[in-house]
Amino acid sequence: MKHNPYAALPATVENIIVETSNITTFTFRPEEPIPFKAGQFVELSIPGFGEAPFTPSSSPAVNDVMDITIMRVGAVTERIHALSKGDTVGIRGPLGQPYPLDKFKGKEILIVGGGVGLAPLRALFFALAEEMDHYKKIILRYGARSPGDIVYRNDVATAWGKPKVDLMLSVDKGDEGWKGNIGVVTTILEKNKLSINIQNSVAVVCGPPIMMKFATIKLLERGYAPENIYLSMEKNMSCGIGKCGHCRIGPYYACKDGPVFTYDRIKDEPRIWD
Ligand SMILES: Cc1cc2nc3c(=O)[nH]c(=O)nc-3n(C[C@H](O)[C@H](O)[C@H](O)COP(=O)(O)OP(=O)(O)OC[C@H]3O[C@@H](n4cnc5c(N)ncnc54)[C@H](O)[C@@H]3O)c2cc1C
Ligand code: FES
Repeated sequence: MKHNPYAALPATVENIIVETSNITTFTFRPEEPIPFKAGQFVELSIPGFGEAPFTPSSSPAVNDVMDITIMRVGAVTERIHALSKGDTVGIRGPLGQPYPLDKFKGKEILIVGGGVGLAPLRALFFALAEEMDHYKKIILRYGARSPGDIVYRNDVATAWGKPKVDLMLSVDKGDEGWKGNIGVVTTILEKNKLSINIQNSVAVVCGPPIMMKFATIKLLERGYAPENIYLSMEKNMSCGIGKCGHCRIGPYYACKDGPVFTYDRIKDEPRIWD
């Protein structure tokens, strides 16, 4: 029988980690493993209520459980945040195209995240870290509103501090305990905060549209070619499989052709940062 792309697999909430006041990471155990690659997303449904797209934030090497880090912004995410351990949701996917990791080999990978935008980049980070020998260096630059808004505190302090990983955080507004950089994330992309061989580098960006826009402008200023800047275009979606047209970016469907696009493919399309 043909697989129904709208059918969701039941998945149980196995763990809940509160990251910040409005961001929580849920670990789901689907009835069957859901293999995915970094960059792909899933549609998560609350039975009888609605569904929304999210990118797994756990390692693609782990298939039996899947972490999804979710910011509470509206109706569906509100319902997801009210879930308890043992509750059941639906997951369909994986959907969309993964990061082309083959093209990243031998390069310095600059990962730029803002707010909950670090979630998909965490899955990418794990995928890169699995085969660290293939990459020259991983440089992670992450911006959050305040120290209390930083996600994945444990990872940032431990697993992400590997050799060959250059990590710098910034907050828009510090507090008395904050010793790091203060300023929007582009301030840690400046020459004095980011030493990188741009000619042998790709940059991967995910965050709120305004942050993606200014990070892209800064990367272009620093000398990145548009085809070496990878952007996660989190457009409003419905079907997730290229049928409904909700997620159009010019000739592309973000759900089917993306959600990750290099800047050269979409730069001339109107309202890409909306
Ligand atoms: C491919 C993809 C991956 C995503 N991954 C994540 C993730 O890992 N974690 C996460 O927290 N969120 C992620 N999002 C965003 C998430 O899908 C939306 O926050 C969610 O759909 C909001 O649903 P809601 O019913 O709670 O809010 P709504 O009531 O629908 O909307 C509340 C607010 O959120 C905005 N919004 C709604 N849908 C989207 C959307 N798809 N993208 C951006 N803004 C939206 C609305 O404009 C409105 O301002 C992703 C989106 C896409 C397209
Ligand atoms: S969400 Fe339906 S075409 Fe992309």
